[in-house]
Amino acid sequence: MTTYLIAPSILSADFLRLGEQIAEVEAAGADWIHIDVMDGHFVPNLTMGPFIVEHCRRATRLPLDVHLMVTEPARFVNAFAYAGANSLTVHVETKDHLLSTLQMIRHLGCRAGISLSPSTPADAVYPYLSLVDLILVMSVEPGYAGQEFKPEALPKIRAIRRMLDVADSSTWLQVDGGLTTETVPLVKAAGANVFVAAHAIFQYPGGIAAGVQALRRCLHDNE
Ligand code: DX5
Ligand code: ZN
Repeated sequence: MTTYLIAPSILSADFLRLGEQIAEVEAAGADWIHIDVMDGHFVPNLTMGPFIVEHCRRATRLPLDVHLMVTEPARFVNAFAYAGANSLTVHVETKDHLLSTLQMIRHLGCRAGISLSPSTPADAVYPYLSLVDLILVMSVEPGYAGQEFKPEALPKIRAIRRMLDVADSSTWLQVDGGLTTETVPLVKAAGANVFVAAHAIFQYPGGIAAGVQALRRCLHDNE
């Protein structure tokens, strides 16, 4: 049976109650906590640094999955690993010493991830397959929560799933952006197994726990 993981992104959390909200997604059965780091350069927005990761580390035992939307990830991987990150994902478009950065991330004891923005083709990850534990396909332009899912991500997810299957690789295939109870089944059918959601969890009308449970239910429908 395939394992499917839900990774709530705290980008849509209420930061005045961050600890409580992380505890709530954990109790509701979330698997990883996704933390979106933006530098105002690789993407237009600015968000969180190692300081927030350190605080999240004290709030939960769940793995902290850190998504680095920064132009020079090599400068920061140490600080995030020491702050308590369990995965560090860098964007393939940064071309910032990618090979050595991925090796460094593993050397620091973290899962190494590589991410593709919507306009980057699936093939871009090929040279890094043996160096990564996670591939993240963005299904919105990185920068903001609450955007609409781009269906163009689906053929890319299918192509990367084929690549991983041919290589007999157990690397996680993660999708991030616009995931809801409507889009998760499409992404799952395309071959993803880690699902990031900010808005669909932290802004869910019935509350955070109900948001996690709704996504969980649609992952297990028609199994
Ligand atoms: C966007 C971030 C996403 C974002 C997802 O740049 O990488 O993790 O928080 O937000 P939703 O799930 O609301 O599209
Ligand atoms: Zn993200």
